[in-house]
Amino acid sequence: MDNTCRLNRAGFSPRSNAPLCLVLLLLLSLATGHTRHSPEEADVPTGCASAKASLLSCTDRPAAGLVLGEDITHLTLHNVSEGELDLKHVRHLSWTESGIVRIKDCLVNPENLKSIDLSQNNISHLENYQFGNFSSLLQMNLSFNRITDLPRYVFKNQKLRSLSLSHNLLQALPFQVFATEHMTELDLSYNYLATFLDHFFKFNKYIEVLLLNNNRITKLTSNALADLAELRHLDLSNNLLSSFSKGLFDSLNKLQYLNLANNPLDKLASGTFRGLKYLRRLNLSGNRLTRFSFGLLHFSPGLVELTIDDTDIEEIHNSEMLGVPLLQNLSIRNNKRLREIETYVLADTPALRRLDISGNSLTFLPQSIANLSQLFHLNISDNPWACDCRMYWFAAWAETKKRSNMVMSDLSCGPDAYPNDMLPTLQHLNCTKPQIVYKSPTRLYRLKSDALLECRYSAYPPPSITWITPKREVFHWNPDAGIPDIFKKHPHAHDVDMIPLRIIPPRIQVLDNGTLWIRNLTRGDCGRYYCYASNPIANFTEDVLLHIDPTDWNHIRIISLIFGAQCAAGFLGITLLVQFLRYILNRFGILNNFCSFCKRDRVSPRARQIYAMLDNIEQYKSQQLEKLKENYTQQVTRIKDNCTQQIEWIQNSYQTQAKHLRDFRDIGSQHLSTLRGQYCDQVRKVRDYSTSQLNWVRENYVFQRNKIRKFSSHKVLQLRETYKYQQQTLNKVLENLPSLYFENCRAGTCGRAESLVFDPNDIEGVDFYIKSKIEQLSNLDEVTDTENMTQSRLSLYYTPTERSLGSKVPSPDVLAGVHINYIEERPIMPPLDVASTSKNGGFIIPDLAAIDLEETKIDLSDEDGRMNHETSL
Ligand SMILES: *[C@@H]1O[C@H](CO)[C@@H](O)[C@H](O)[C@H]1NC(C)=O
Ligand SMILES: *[C@@H]1O[C@H](CO)[C@@H](O)[C@H](O)[C@H]1NC(C)=O
Ligand SMILES: *[C@@H]1O[C@H](CO)[C@@H](O)[C@H](O)[C@H]1NC(C)=O
Ligand SMILES: *[C@@H]1O[C@H](CO)[C@@H](O)[C@H](O)[C@H]1NC(C)=O
Ligand SMILES: *[C@@H]1O[C@H](CO)[C@@H](O)[C@H](O)[C@H]1NC(C)=O
Ligand SMILES: *[C@@H]1O[C@H](CO)[C@@H](O)[C@H](O)[C@H]1NC(C)=O
Ligand SMILES: *[C@@H]1O[C@H](CO)[C@@H](O)[C@H](O)[C@H]1NC(C)=O
Ligand SMILES: *[C@@H]1O[C@H](CO)[C@@H](O)[C@H](O)[C@H]1NC(C)=O
Ligand SMILES: *[C@@H]1O[C@H](CO)[C@@H](O)[C@H](O)[C@H]1NC(C)=O
Ligand SMILES: *[C@@H]1O[C@H](CO)[C@@H](O)[C@H](O)[C@H]1NC(C)=O
Repeated sequence: MDNTCRLNRAGFSPRSNAPLCLVLLLLLSLATGHTRHSPEEADVPTGCASAKASLLSCTDRPAAGLVLGEDITHLTLHNVSEGELDLKHVRHLSWTESGIVRIKDCLVNPENLKSIDLSQNNISHLENYQFGNFSSLLQMNLSFNRITDLPRYVFKNQKLRSLSLSHNLLQALPFQVFATEHMTELDLSYNYLATFLDHFFKFNKYIEVLLLNNNRITKLTSNALADLAELRHLDLSNNLLSSFSKGLFDSLNKLQYLNLANNPLDKLASGTFRGLKYLRRLNLSGNRLTRFSFGLLHFSPGLVELTIDDTDIEEIHNSEMLGVPLLQNLSIRNNKRLREIETYVLADTPALRRLDISGNSLTFLPQSIANLSQLFHLNISDNPWACDCRMYWFAAWAETKKRSNMVMSDLSCGPDAYPNDMLPTLQHLNCTKPQIVYKSPTRLYRLKSDALLECRYSAYPPPSITWITPKREVFHWNPDAGIPDIFKKHPHAHDVDMIPLRIIPPRIQVLDNGTLWIRNLTRGDCGRYYCYASNPIANFTEDVLLHIDPTDWNHIRIISLIFGAQCAAGFLGITLLVQFLRYILNRFGILNNFCSFCKRDRVSPRARQIYAMLDNIEQYKSQQLEKLKENYTQQVTRIKDNCTQQIEWIQNSYQTQAKHLRDFRDIGSQHLSTLRGQYCDQVRKVRDYSTSQLNWVRENYVFQRNKIRKFSSHKVLQLRETYKYQQQTLNKVLENLPSLYFENCRAGTCGRAESLVFDPNDIEGVDFYIKSKIEQLSNLDEVTDTENMTQSRLSLYYTPTERSLGSKVPSPDVLAGVHINYIEERPIMPPLDVASTSKNGGFIIPDLAAIDLEETKIDLSDEDGRMNHETSL
């Protein structure tokens, strides 16, 4: 009982508990009156009364002299001035309105005291460990005193469950001053507290009721309430909170009641109440909210009571009440700016039982009220209701509901209208639903003409019309801005994605009477147009077809055909021209003259490959020939050197012998002739040997050369064979192709495709090339076979000759010749003077020399075909 009353003072649900308290007070006063009029209970002190043996209540007397019996456990003192009291047996003490200033002097032996109520005294000062001897104390009420400050350890080691410090003068509290673990209720309301820091309630995990209302709290840091996991009831009303730190309520998972009324809150982020899973009652009244955030209530599906009175909210939009399907009491009162509650807002709260929307600026009721089957209390008074067709439905609904005993406020069309006149007004409205009266007949329109599409409806009020084009562009039109339709927030003209159309001047637009005007018709405009008409009673959709005149289509078709034909002809002409030019160029070989490599470039890749192969073969062949020639030259020079050396050697020995013989003139000529014979023999032998060597070398060379040439020409032939074979197969394939295709090919339409495979020009080119190669090679063969070789032909293929050293005709200047002549002349004359030796012909030696000259004439100069000729020498 005590508790309830205390909470009353704290402003906690005053209405429901007020009668109870009154009754209690009445009983109390009756009891005291009774004691006054029954003096037979002599042991009761003056000014006191005792309803039961354990109860004693005293008023208007000093405490001094008050003796308490042992059986008194409940003591109630009212206007009992300060004085010492022995409380040895008292369990519950209430000592109020007595001007107590110092507790310490008054309360003796408080060890057994369980609850103490010292409210409405003059206590202003508390000390550390003040209540140290109150070892059993569970409840303490210090409200309505003058306490300005709490010493840090004043509640140290207490087991208090419930503490009230409301209506004091507290401004700042020592950090974690209420560190009494078992506390479940804490009332700090009506003080001057400004803030609570993070984890202030760290050691108060079991607090269930926390009253912080009517303070001056401006800020609660995000962890200020973080430790209150058991909190059920939180009152933060009448403070100075303008916003909430993020996550402030996140850990209050058991909170059921939250009062945030009368704070300067102007905005609530949608995640503010994220942690409040079990919230049942929420009060947001008296804030400066201008809008109700979407999703604000999503996290509290169990909400049953919501109060949004006295705010600045202007509209409540559809789905802003989503997420609270169990809501029963909704109070949206005295929001002077609230103009509209959108039609479907209340469809999200089907369990609503009490709805109070009085004192707003609403002009029509959201029709979703009609679906609230459990509603039994409706207050719509004090709104400037327009009483037009938008509330037409209400008349019938209200009639039936009244019959089923729904409690309704008075139903007036605005504060100035005659009371309770709403239903008759509504009933006499002549609202009708839209009905099509006329629509544009399906008609054929010429391209680039204008079209007027029309839907005429009969309805009261006149319906708004929405046109939807085949391209899904949307045009809205509303004849009466006073009755907004459901598209009032859409742009007047927008596309599928709600992007406004911004073509100026608009080609398509809605005229003032709702007709759709399309200028300069294009092909894209034809199709089905929808005109959607809606008024507060109903909606209706009609469609209008727009067709383009088929003559226009034919026209277009013919133009297209002509255009297509022109294009085709143009192409054909260009192709023919190009082909003709090509023909001319080819014919007169202009291209070939201008750039010989162009032709090469034109050959197909396959032919180019063959060219490359042929070139490779030739290169290889010439390399081999080069090598062979070098080898040959080397061998020839070696043999010649050897021959020269040997002849020199023989000559030396002959000279010495001849000199020796000249000394013996007697033996003379005979010996000399034999000697000369021997000498000649030897020289001939050497010469023969060298000649045979040369012959062998030459034969070998020729053989090798022929082999190389044959090899390469064989390769070329082989290549040509394969090539020809491929060509033949291809020809066969081409012949087997369908004749049509072939004809097309001949017409040149697919020549390009064919050239990708094989170009007959290429085939000819390759053939020609191969033929020339083979000719060249066979020419060479002829050269080797016949002796007749012209200088020009020889120059094609280098062969090491004396001629190449500078002389075409064998001459005595030639090294070989010199050496051989030496042999002939040396016996006669000293080797130093060649010319004089030739003149000294009187001796036998000149004969010999002459023979020698003839016989030793070895022509090494012409190694090629003349070998036979020379060997015949
Ligand atoms: C309180 O008690 C004194 C006597 O002790 C009396 O004079 C006074 O009028 C009382 N005050 C109230 C408000 O009843
Ligand atoms: C309480 O104290 C103030 C001054 O401190 C005094 O004016 C007032 O009368 C006192 N109240 C009571 C009930 O004694
Ligand atoms: C508590 O009681 C003891 C004796 O019973 C006394 O000495 C002490 O001063 C009391 N403390 C307070 C704070 O009253
Ligand atoms: C209302 O409707 C009735 C019948 O539908 C019609 O006779 C009457 O003229 C209408 N009144 C007005 C004001 O439109
Ligand atoms: C709307 O206006 C257009 C042009 O001003 C006119 O042709 C058309 O008939 C009007 N439609 C109606 C329903 O008055
Ligand atoms: C009609 O549209 C075409 C292009 O679509 C434009 O060239 C022509 O000028 C327009 N005519 C009028 C009268 O706007
Ligand atoms: C149009 O009317 C039909 C019933 O006739 C209703 O189902 C529909 O929701 C209405 N559409 C709008 C946008 O009001
Ligand atoms: C020259 O040819 C002969 C025989 O053909 C060969 O034995 C010799 O090694 C070759 N010499 C060189 C340098 O090629
Ligand atoms: C030179 O010729 C003689 C025969 O006349 C021969 O025996 C010798 O091997 C040859 N020397 C060289 C290097 O060819
Ligand atoms: C060799 O060539 C000459 C001129 O080039 C020619 O007169 C002669 O008849 C030819 N001899 C042979 C055997 O072909």
